[in-house]
Amino acid sequence: MTSTVHKIAAAAPTLPPLTRETPDLEAAVTALIDRVFGPGRFAKSSERLREGNTLLADCSFVALRDGAPVGCCRMWPVTIGGESVAFLGPLAVDPDERSAGLGQALVERAVEAARAAGWRAVLLVGDGPYFGRVGFSNAHTGKIVMPGPVDQRRVLLLPLTERGDEGLQGLVAIAPRA
Ligand SMILES: CC(C)(COP(=O)(O)OP(=O)(O)OC[C@H]1O[C@@H](n2cnc3c(N)ncnc32)[C@H](O)[C@@H]1OP(=O)(O)O)[C@@H](O)C(=O)NCCC(=O)NCCS
Repeated sequence: MTSTVHKIAAAAPTLPPLTRETPDLEAAVTALIDRVFGPGRFAKSSERLREGNTLLADCSFVALRDGAPVGCCRMWPVTIGGESVAFLGPLAVDPDERSAGLGQALVERAVEAARAAGWRAVLLVGDGPYFGRVGFSNAHTGKIVMPGPVDQRRVLLLPLTERGDEGLQGLVAIAPRA
């Protein structure tokens, strides 16, 4: 009996530890994102909300395998029609580490941190079937305007406070610096 339990435990994939993204990891995390998305990522409307913005370091996480980033989930401060929300992305997992739950673990950790930091909601542009698993939906995003072309069905929101996803409308912009 004991040996069976040990065998199952040994076969289960072990997720690499998650840590907050610190400045010393920035270059390696950016290299991971470049590998996963390729140069096309700079054309995305989401990128307009990241370039020139300041990373929410307390809500951005990296998975480290032997000290090297194999997954990341970044967050940024933005406004929707003047209302502050956190903007999630990129989410990237190294191809060798996929389908083990790492992507979902990164999103959950980042969302948890955003909730703890007091954000009312998290916004992202992504696939509904994937992010729906952690509660994101496009039910209240019809009037949210990204700063560039986007498939509106992929604009997803997760409220972190009661009714945190309601009444959000207008242009999404980089949050003014405090
Ligand atoms: C999307 C991504 C982060 C998922 O990472 P991951 O660690 O494999 O995620 P999880 O282990 O939590 O979930 C894996 C499951 O989600 C599914 N999945 C992956 N991408 C999906 C998508 N776009 N839509 C629906 N399901 C998806 C996989 O098929 C897998 O299912 P399986 O376990 O039945 O094989 C990773 O595939 C990746 O980096 N992709 C390229 C970048 C990207 O598309 N990022 C998200 C854009 S915002």
